[in-house]
Amino acid sequence: MKVFAHRGASGNYPENTLAAIKAAITCHADGIELDIQECKDDFVVLHDTWLERTTSGVGQVAQFSVSQLKQLNAGSGERIPTLQEVFDYVPTHTQLNLELKSVINLDKLIALLDKNLNDKRITQKQLLISSFNHPLLKQIKQHFPWLNIGALTASLPLDYARFASELSAFSVHVDREFVDQAFVDDAKSKGLKVYAYTVDKQQDIERLQQMGIDGIFSNYPCKAKMFLTT
Ligand code: G3P
Ligand code: CA
Repeated sequence: MKVFAHRGASGNYPENTLAAIKAAITCHADGIELDIQECKDDFVVLHDTWLERTTSGVGQVAQFSVSQLKQLNAGSGERIPTLQEVFDYVPTHTQLNLELKSVINLDKLIALLDKNLNDKRITQKQLLISSFNHPLLKQIKQHFPWLNIGALTASLPLDYARFASELSAFSVHVDREFVDQAFVDDAKSKGLKVYAYTVDKQQDIERLQQMGIDGIFSNYPCKAKMFLTT
């Protein structure tokens, strides 16, 4: 079972910062999950659309330029990273799951991905783009048919993993509280990987592993890897 560092190693470091990313790389997490927001003139790594919970700022991310956002403390003196800084920092052998939150200018995101792919700063294999916004995923898949996409759900849908299959997704990302064996079996019969969020407790890790879940998102990836049974 793969272990993704959820918002980086966010249990021990400020979430979605380079410090949390560095810690995830150091403990050999199988991948790193990060949240992407669009600000006035760039894409940044931040979970909320509002600044208050995780930074020293006040207001909505979309109202600020990246140079303004760079003034803020994102925890322990860390700065909000741009998506480009992540691409520059993370080695190409580390899987990156970019969860798109508020992305409005899709063409701009596509151009950024294209540039980094051409410059070989990132690889096709490395990327997994996910979102709760399924129409957005559909548009991205249309532009990059080769791209692995992860369809997120916070519920247990009536027709199980059908929505992910219809999106030609690589994986379906499920809430650990709702996922059940029938969902896992349905997803697997459709050729989908099943990744569960957010999983920190040993009992949950073991339960999900027994269900055949392919990966988890954990705030404590180093500890979670130790809980895996072989
Ligand atoms: O991508 C899985 C998980 O991170 C989705 O929920 O709210 O933590 O972004 P959230
Ligand atoms: Ca997320």
